[in-house]
Amino acid sequence: MRILSGIQPTGILHIGNYLGMMRPAIALQAQGEAFYFIADYHALTTIDNPETLRANSRRIALDFLACGLDPDKGALFRQSDVPQVAELTWILSTVTPKALLERAHSYKDKVARGLPASAGLFTYPVLMAADILIYDSDLVPVGKDQKQHLEMARDIAQKFNDTFGGVLKLPEPHIQSATETVPGLDGQKMSKSYGNTIDIFGDEKEMRKRIMSIVTDSAPVEAAKDPASSTIFQLYSLFASKEETETMREVFQGGGTGYGDFKKQLFAKLWEYFEPMRKRREEILKDVAYIDTVLKKGAARANEEAGKVMKRVRAAVGL
Ligand code: ADP
Ligand code: TRP
Repeated sequence: MRILSGIQPTGILHIGNYLGMMRPAIALQAQGEAFYFIADYHALTTIDNPETLRANSRRIALDFLACGLDPDKGALFRQSDVPQVAELTWILSTVTPKALLERAHSYKDKVARGLPASAGLFTYPVLMAADILIYDSDLVPVGKDQKQHLEMARDIAQKFNDTFGGVLKLPEPHIQSATETVPGLDGQKMSKSYGNTIDIFGDEKEMRKRIMSIVTDSAPVEAAKDPASSTIFQLYSLFASKEETETMREVFQGGGTGYGDFKKQLFAKLWEYFEPMRKRREEILKDVAYIDTVLKKGAARANEEAGKVMKRVRAAVGL
C-alpha cells in the first residue's frame, strides 16, 4: 500500500498540523510505503521570498524527522524535486472543469483573506491532484480541511480515466476523526493564519505563555466547569491517556479548581509529550547534512515511481 501526504512549508508547525496530519501520517508508516513531501510548489502561491521558502522547507523536513518519520520506511522529499508533477498538472488541467475549481472553499477563503487571486492559487487543487495521482497513492492522510481537495483529486482522476481509459488510481482519504479540527488558543480552528497556534518546537517559556493565554469563560474557581466546551480540556484529551482525561473531566465537573491550574496541567502534558521529539531534533541538528541526504534519497525514490505513472499518462494522451 502506498501512503502519500504533503505539507506546505509556509510556517512553523503547530499541534494542529501534528495531530491532523503528521501523527497519523507517521503512524501509517507501519502499514505500507510512505511518500511524504514538502509542498514547495504549492507554497509559491503564498511566499515570494526565496530565502524564506528554502529555510522553511528544510525546517519542515527537520521537524518531520524529529517527530518520528522514518526515512528508511518511506521517502521524504521536496515536491519540486519531482518536476514531472508540474507536467501532470498541465495534462490534468485540460480535463478539469473550471466549475469544479470554482467550488473550492480553500480558494475562496484565501482570496477573502487577501491573498492575490493568481491562476496558481486557483489551480492549486489540480497540482494537489497531480501530487497524489503521480505516485499511484492508495491512502492520503490529511486534516479535515483538505477533504474537499481530496474529493477533487478523485473527480479529476475519474474524469481523466473516463476520457483516456483506466490509467490513474483513485486514492482514499484518511481523515482523523478524533482530531478532526484541533482548536486554537481562541477556540477557533488552530491555524497559522489566525495567530492562535501552539507550536510543536517552540521554547518552553513561549509554549507556557501561549497555553496560559487560552481563552476561557469567567467561571470562578469554586464553580463546576463544562469540559466539553473547554479548549483546555479538548487539547489535553488529545495528548493525555484515557485515565488522565477522565480525571481531568471529574475535576472540571467537581468545581474548586481554576482554569489557571488546568492550563498548567496542559502545559506539563504537552511539554512531556514532545520531549523525545525535541531530543531527536537536537541530535539531527548536530549533523544537518543528514537532512540533505534524506531528501536526496527520497527524491530519487519518488522520481522512480513518478516516471512510471507519467509513462502511462503520456502514452494514454498521445504525447
Ligand atoms: P494552517 O491552517 O496552519 O495554515 P495547513 O493548511 O498548512 O495549516 O495544514 C497542514 C496540514 O495540517 C493539513 O493536513 C491540515 O489538514 C492539517 N491541519 C492544520 N490545522 C489543523 C487543525 N487545526 N486541526 C487538524 N488538522 C489541521
Ligand atoms: N494542500 C495541502 C495543505 O495545505 C498540502 C498538500 C499539497 C497535500 N499536496 C498534497 C496534502 C497532496 C496531501 C496530498 O495542507
